[in-house]
Amino acid sequence: MSENTSDAIYNIIKERRSIRSFKDQEVPENMVKKILEAGWMAPSAGNRQPVEFIIIKDKATKQKLSAQRFVDEAPLLIAVVVNLDRTKTRYGERGERMYIYHDSGAAIQNMLLMSKSLGLGSCWIGAFNDERVSRFLELPEHVLPMALITIGYPNEDPDLPRKIPIDKITHEEKYEEQKIKDYLMSLVD
Ligand SMILES: Cc1cc2nc3c(=O)[nH]c(=O)nc-3n(C[C@H](O)[C@H](O)[C@H](O)COP(=O)(O)O)c2cc1C
Repeated sequence: MSENTSDAIYNIIKERRSIRSFKDQEVPENMVKKILEAGWMAPSAGNRQPVEFIIIKDKATKQKLSAQRFVDEAPLLIAVVVNLDRTKTRYGERGERMYIYHDSGAAIQNMLLMSKSLGLGSCWIGAFNDERVSRFLELPEHVLPMALITIGYPNEDPDLPRKIPIDKITHEEKYEEQKIKDYLMSLVD
């Protein structure tokens, strides 16, 4: 991989922000396809591929799925769901407790980064009522809603939110609890 590609990926990762305000402009179909492909190409435990996507453009449906106002302003909403059967048949309890979150998280992040690379903004939405989303999207019992992703042309350019410095969350050889404790204490002083 060339240095230019690596720099481009690094910049996309660094510059991606959660976007909660969108222009009133459709996302072109070729971009929707690329975003879905980015999710589809993500790794999954044992290649069981439990992650599926639901494209939602209807404003009334968007309003029903989330109380967060910017959700229905986004021209495109993608619900990321997992089909539990595909992971549970191989991995049982560990699949249900852990791998479905890993698999869907990998897919979601790929989609956020692809959106950013296309000049679009996106936001990962985890705060929703599972029962309500399942009902309105007609999910069968073995299919769980994992996230909603709002996507559209950005109408804001947020700053980097406050981050814990990288050296405070990076440990060497073992977990160095005091390091992170000291840092958090320094914030309250
Ligand atoms: C699992 C998860 C759930 C999230 N849920 C919401 C949400 O419901 N509403 C929202 O506005 N942002 C949500 N976010 C976005 C975070 O607030 C955001 O990533 C964080 O503040 C850091 O900002 P950044 O994405 O610009 O780096 C969620 C992010 C993650 C990873």
